Amino acid sequence: MNEKTMDKLIREFPGNITEAIKIAGEARLREPQSEIRNVVVCGMGGSGIGGKIVSQWVYNDLEVPFTLVNDYVLPAFVNENTLLIASSYSGNTEETLSAVEDGLSKGAHIVAVCSGGKLQAMAEEKSFDVIVVPGGNPPRASLAFSLVQLVSILEKLELVTIRYSAQLEKSVELLLANESKIKEEAIEIADFLFEKMPIIYSTSLFEGVAIRTRQQLNENAKTLCWHHVIPEMNHNELVGWSGGDKRFASLFLINSDIYERNAFRLSVSKKVMEEKGAGTMVVYSKGESRVEEAIYFIHLVDWVSFYLSEKNKVDPIAIPVIDYLKGELE
Ligand code: PA5
Repeated sequence: MNEKTMDKLIREFPGNITEAIKIAGEARLREPQSEIRNVVVCGMGGSGIGGKIVSQWVYNDLEVPFTLVNDYVLPAFVNENTLLIASSYSGNTEETLSAVEDGLSKGAHIVAVCSGGKLQAMAEEKSFDVIVVPGGNPPRASLAFSLVQLVSILEKLELVTIRYSAQLEKSVELLLANESKIKEEAIEIADFLFEKMPIIYSTSLFEGVAIRTRQQLNENAKTLCWHHVIPEMNHNELVGWSGGDKRFASLFLINSDIYERNAFRLSVSKKVMEEKGAGTMVVYSKGESRVEEAIYFIHLVDWVSFYLSEKNKVDPIAIPVIDYLKGELE
């Protein structure tokens, strides 16, 4: 692991997208032997979340089912018509390696994304494709690489029609043009969340962003966090606010083209929470596509998690609990 600080790693996010697009452009993939009728992405934590975010970008475009697996075993439908994308930054995460073994035994067409490790060795030995990304950083600080490789695999195998890599290039411009504003907003959000348990709400097609936010607050700021989506939270969780619990702070991360009825649901939900004395904050994204809006939020919440780690006086890089757990499992 290198000695980069988390703020430096976050600052590198736009540049990482550009570098990842270049790597994707140079990657050569094998032609699948059978028609692809479903896509499965397996990966854990900072390497798995890219799959969730990409599944929401291609929601209105990809015409075959897209399933995420954050576990050891693949679903029963996996067969030679499955494109299995295995994402593990280290290449050594046991759940992901197990899912790949399962995919191999079921004849899936496999493409791995990793920085090396056992996954790269397995790809070379079993002759499936592997895209190797630069290593040495915490996996969660390398999200740009998994996001870009995942969409580019779908583009190269002609499973999608929209050019997501072009939207990612535009996202880089958006981030660079708004860098200081993003940091100012992140400081305000970190102030709002400080000493509270953050509850993140988004619309359902931005749930990947809400989960990423939770993960970054867990791992960088070392705080518990919860997330839910609109409209589903209106049918259960909103009732949970009835008791007026002041330990929580609700952060709404809202895309600019929110469906009208969901915007109305948001305003009523916010009112219910405020009437019970809870703090609420609504943040709107920027950008002209779902990709740009998600990338804007990802960068914003990365900075929030960094500023909150400073306020919490914790090291945003070290994750001794995960290291301990992985050690115990060896
Ligand atoms: O952010 C982290 O460090 C973790 O969430 C890891 O991503 C997770 O443990 C999986 O490891 P890897 O990304 O190496 O597959």
